[in-house]
Amino acid sequence: MREDTPSRTAQWVAAARGMGMLLPDDVRIADDPYGIAFASTRIQRLFEERRPALLAALPGLKHWIAYMQVRTRLLDDAVRNFVDAGGRQLVLLGAGFDCRALRMPELADAHVFEVDHPATQTHKIDTLERIGAHSPASYVTWDFETRPMDELPEALADAGHDAQVPTLTIWEGVTMYLTEAAIDASLRAVADYSCRGSQLAMTYQAKFEGQQPSLAARAVSFVVARLGEPFRWYWDPAQLPAYLEARGFALADDVGTPEAADKLLPPDLASTISRADHSRVALAERV
Ligand SMILES: C[S@@+](CC[C@H](N)C(=O)[O-])C[C@H]1O[C@@H](n2cnc3c(N)ncnc32)[C@H](O)[C@@H]1O
Repeated sequence: MREDTPSRTAQWVAAARGMGMLLPDDVRIADDPYGIAFASTRIQRLFEERRPALLAALPGLKHWIAYMQVRTRLLDDAVRNFVDAGGRQLVLLGAGFDCRALRMPELADAHVFEVDHPATQTHKIDTLERIGAHSPASYVTWDFETRPMDELPEALADAGHDAQVPTLTIWEGVTMYLTEAAIDASLRAVADYSCRGSQLAMTYQAKFEGQQPSLAARAVSFVVARLGEPFRWYWDPAQLPAYLEARGFALADDVGTPEAADKLLPPDLASTISRADHSRVALAERV
């Protein structure tokens, strides 16, 4: 990402999460009342002025909203299951403008740590202050590419994290932007601060050897590269269990966004997500 600019992809996914509010109540599967505050002023204005007509005016928007509904719901459910089982610590690795600490009442008794790049984190703090929202999260500033990840457990401990208590780490929309070295170091750091009973929920882009990426996948790669945040990392789903196992995690679940959409959304909305979409959500347990 660009050193001095808040993440543009974080801005976009937060906006798409917030625009879920355009969907009817009986279809919506995740709510983020804070997302729109992070959108560009042009999108915010369009949203406020044309709210009822926006989906019809921008056909491609429906895909993004549906995609973020599914991704958000799968990870929100991971949070709920963790909390139901007694979990009280969350680390949002590359938190961006994720406002789970604010928007999920289930987290009222949990301690949420948000780790992110200083440019993105500063913008988040300023934006929440501007709209008068007070997040209970603890902020830990980090650049995954330049600051040694083996220092992260200590930095979290300084912010109040207890490594003897189970932690759910959410690594949402981040792995695809990192180098392999940063991925490896990050996973080892997560394992280091995660005791038994901890979990890791993450999204990733799947690599399918010998298969041409779809037109939609190529378009997304092109756009994120233009925003200064190119895709750099893909996992082969068949190799993910061994990769995680070598770093202290057992894969418990791994689902493609299109298949999850078919289960969670009505067919007309699910079908806006291309069958060739290669994004996936995985859940792993610390062993
Ligand atoms: C697509 S956003 C996802 C944000 C959030 N997890 C979500 O899903 O809404 C990617 C996030 O990764 C962070 N990120 C990317 N590269 C980073 C780096 N080298 N160091 C720290 N954070 C980084 C960005 O600041 C941004 O918040």
